Amino acid sequence: MTSLTIAEAGEIAPGEVKAVQVKLGPDPEVIGESLEQGPPGTTAIVVAHTEDGAWYAIGDVCSHGPVLLSEGEFDGCTLECWGHGSRFSLETGEPENLPANQPVPTYPVAIEDGQVVIQIGENT
Ligand code: FES
Repeated sequence: MTSLTIAEAGEIAPGEVKAVQVKLGPDPEVIGESLEQGPPGTTAIVVAHTEDGAWYAIGDVCSHGPVLLSEGEFDGCTLECWGHGSRFSLETGEPENLPANQPVPTYPVAIEDGQVVIQIGENT
C-alpha cells in the first residue's frame, strides 16, 4: 500500500465529496476528476466527509454500471447511485439494496497535516 494525497481537508466540507481519477502503480498520482470509464491503469475514487466528521474513500464507479457514485445522493454514511438506486456503504463498499450486488473497493483514509491521505494498492 502507498500513501496518496487526494486534497486539502479544508476543501471538502462536512456533507461533501471529492472524486478523482488516480493512476495506479508503484507511484500513484491524481490525474484529474473521476471518470465513468477511465483509461487503463487508472481508477476512480470518491472521498466523502460525513456530516459528523468521519472520512471515507471508496471506488467511485458503481459496480452495476458506468455511473459515478459521487454524482448521487450522499446521505449519512451511504452514496446512492443515480443509475438504478443502489446505496453503497461508505464503511464497507457493499451495496445495501439491489440491483447492484457487488461491492466497490474501499481505501483507508486519514487526515495528515491537514491533507486527506488514502492508502492504495498498486492495482486497486
Ligand atoms: S448503475 Fe448503479 S445501480 Fe445500476
